[in-house]
Amino acid sequence: MLPRAWLLWASLLLLAGPAQACPVGCDCFVQEVFCSDEELAAIPPDIPPHATNIIFVETSFTTLGTRAFSGSPNLTKLVFLNTQLCHFGPEAFGGLPGLEDLEITGSAFSNLSADIFSGLGLLGKFTLNFNKLEALPEDLFMHLSALESLQLQGNRLQTLPERLFRPLTQLKSLDLAQNRLAQLPEGLFHPLTSLQSLKLSNNALSGLPQAVFGRLGSLRELFLDSNALSELPPAVFSRLLSLETLWLQRNALGHLPPTVFSALGNLTFLNLQGNTLRTLPAGLFALMPHLAGLSLSHNQLDTVPEDAFANLSSLTSLTLSHNAITHLPASIFRDLGELVKLYLGSNNLTALHPALFQNLSKLELLSLSRNQLTTLPQGIFDTNDNLFNVALHGNPWQCDCHLAYLFSWLRQYSDRFFNIQTYCAGPAYLKGQVVPALQEEQLVCPVARDRFGFLAPGLDDREPGASWDLAVEGEVAPSRCTYSNPEGTVMLACDEARCRWLHLQLSPRQGSPGLAYNASAEWDLRSGCGSVRVTVSIQALGP
Ligand SMILES: *[C@@H]1O[C@H](CO)[C@@H](O)[C@H](O)[C@H]1NC(C)=O
Ligand SMILES: *[C@@H]1O[C@H](CO)[C@@H](O)[C@H](O)[C@H]1NC(C)=O
Ligand SMILES: *[C@@H]1O[C@H](CO)[C@@H](O)[C@H](O)[C@H]1NC(C)=O
Ligand SMILES: *[C@@H]1O[C@H](CO)[C@@H](O)[C@H](O)[C@H]1NC(C)=O
Ligand SMILES: *[C@@H]1O[C@H](CO)[C@@H](O)[C@H](O)[C@H]1NC(C)=O
Ligand SMILES: *[C@@H]1O[C@H](CO)[C@@H](O)[C@H](O)[C@H]1NC(C)=O
Ligand SMILES: *[C@@H]1O[C@H](CO)[C@@H](O)[C@H](O)[C@H]1NC(C)=O
Repeated sequence: MLPRAWLLWASLLLLAGPAQACPVGCDCFVQEVFCSDEELAAIPPDIPPHATNIIFVETSFTTLGTRAFSGSPNLTKLVFLNTQLCHFGPEAFGGLPGLEDLEITGSAFSNLSADIFSGLGLLGKFTLNFNKLEALPEDLFMHLSALESLQLQGNRLQTLPERLFRPLTQLKSLDLAQNRLAQLPEGLFHPLTSLQSLKLSNNALSGLPQAVFGRLGSLRELFLDSNALSELPPAVFSRLLSLETLWLQRNALGHLPPTVFSALGNLTFLNLQGNTLRTLPAGLFALMPHLAGLSLSHNQLDTVPEDAFANLSSLTSLTLSHNAITHLPASIFRDLGELVKLYLGSNNLTALHPALFQNLSKLELLSLSRNQLTTLPQGIFDTNDNLFNVALHGNPWQCDCHLAYLFSWLRQYSDRFFNIQTYCAGPAYLKGQVVPALQEEQLVCPVARDRFGFLAPGLDDREPGASWDLAVEGEVAPSRCTYSNPEGTVMLACDEARCRWLHLQLSPRQGSPGLAYNASAEWDLRSGCGSVRVTVSIQALGP
């Protein structure tokens, strides 16, 4: 085992090790040259002529003269990463007809001119990320008509000349993220009819010209997140028939034109998180049959219209958390038969309709955390056969008989380590208790008076005449309101503040275990709900 591994290692060294002369400060691997010496103050004159890839990392030379690499005519890839490069001679990359990939990232230059890049007719990928470019001349790309990928992320661009991208009809990917663009000329992207990905994230765009994306019929992904957009022109996306993902999160959108998304029949992901939407216009998402993910979290929605999600029959994830939703119409999720994840946390929901989740047979994850829910209706999860993960914490759960359904559902289907942070807010004697850790018989309901006669089970058969003038609240059966457990604890609740709890407990008297004894006690409870006399007699038989 060991000798064989050693042999392999040795042969790897032979393959990868410096084969011919390699410039000082560089490592040479077959056709790749890697120079990462901070002392390297000029392009080494002795770069192997057959090199196809050269990578400079953190080198200190600042100038690239005319035709600086013409001694390596077979170069296809040239990379400068975090170097001091900032001056370029004309035709700096001349004599490299096969160069396909040029990257200059992390340098400090703020301007470039077109003549630097002449002679790069085959360049397909051009990366100029994280430099300090402030402006680009409108002819900068005139020699680069084969470009398919242009990356200008993380510069300081404020405006772009309208004709800048004219030669780039082959361009598929354009990244302008993390610049300072405040507006875009309407015709800027019109030549880019092959474009598939456009990134404008993290700029300062406050508006978009109506026709700015008007010729981008091939566009698949559009990133407009983290800008300052407060409105969208109604037809701004109307030609983006191939669009699959649209990122609009973290803008200032307070309302949306009802038809703004109606051409986006191929859309699969839409992110509107972190805007200031208060309402959703009717039919906003009606024509997106392939939409799989929709996020509306961190907005100011207080209601959601009943048919807002109609037709979203492919939706698998819907995020509505961090809004101010107080109420959800019973049929709002009716058409979401494919939904797997539903986030409703951090809203102001006080109650849910029993049929709210009825059609969500594929639902696996549901968050209801941080709302104002006190209980969940009987049967609410009965059709959600795949649901095992429900987040419930941060609600003022009222741990009484109305919580019995949720409690037994949790016991039956949920992992018991889930919701260990889910506490009862009431009644007072259970406040702060962990819901899943309760005993079922602790879920007792307050007894209201003057409703119907109530006989406490276990006592009534001994004293048939002593029916109490107490009643059980609502639809709850009387028997749920009195419990007795095997240790002999009997609990009875009534609904007025001062006589809410009566707790009777029988335990053997200390010092006389096993001895037969009789005991009896009487309480008069006087309060706002009337007065109750309770008589208890206890009879213990000898050992
Ligand atoms: C460049 O590539 C060609 C074709 O592969 C080859 O014939 C030529 O020798 C290479 N040039 C150098 C300087 O290695
Ligand atoms: C950038 O502009 C400065 C003057 O503003 C000029 O001296 C320099 O040559 C320019 N650099 C390039 C690469 O065009
Ligand atoms: C989806 O995109 C294709 C082109 O990629 C287009 O032909 C088709 O019409 C689009 N579908 C819809 C519903 O817009
Ligand atoms: C659902 O889509 C169909 C066409 O696919 C459309 O006619 C209908 O109006 C849409 N439903 C809603 C509620 O918008
Ligand atoms: C929730 O609703 C209550 C009562 O309607 C209101 O006072 C409170 O401000 C709301 N909270 C949020 C976060 O919207
Ligand atoms: C469930 O979906 C069916 C049609 O698929 C519909 O008739 C029914 O009303 C839906 N139920 C609810 C509660 O929305
Ligand atoms: C104790 O219970 C027995 C059996 O019911 C009864 O005969 C007896 O009188 C009781 N004694 C007292 C002191 O109550």
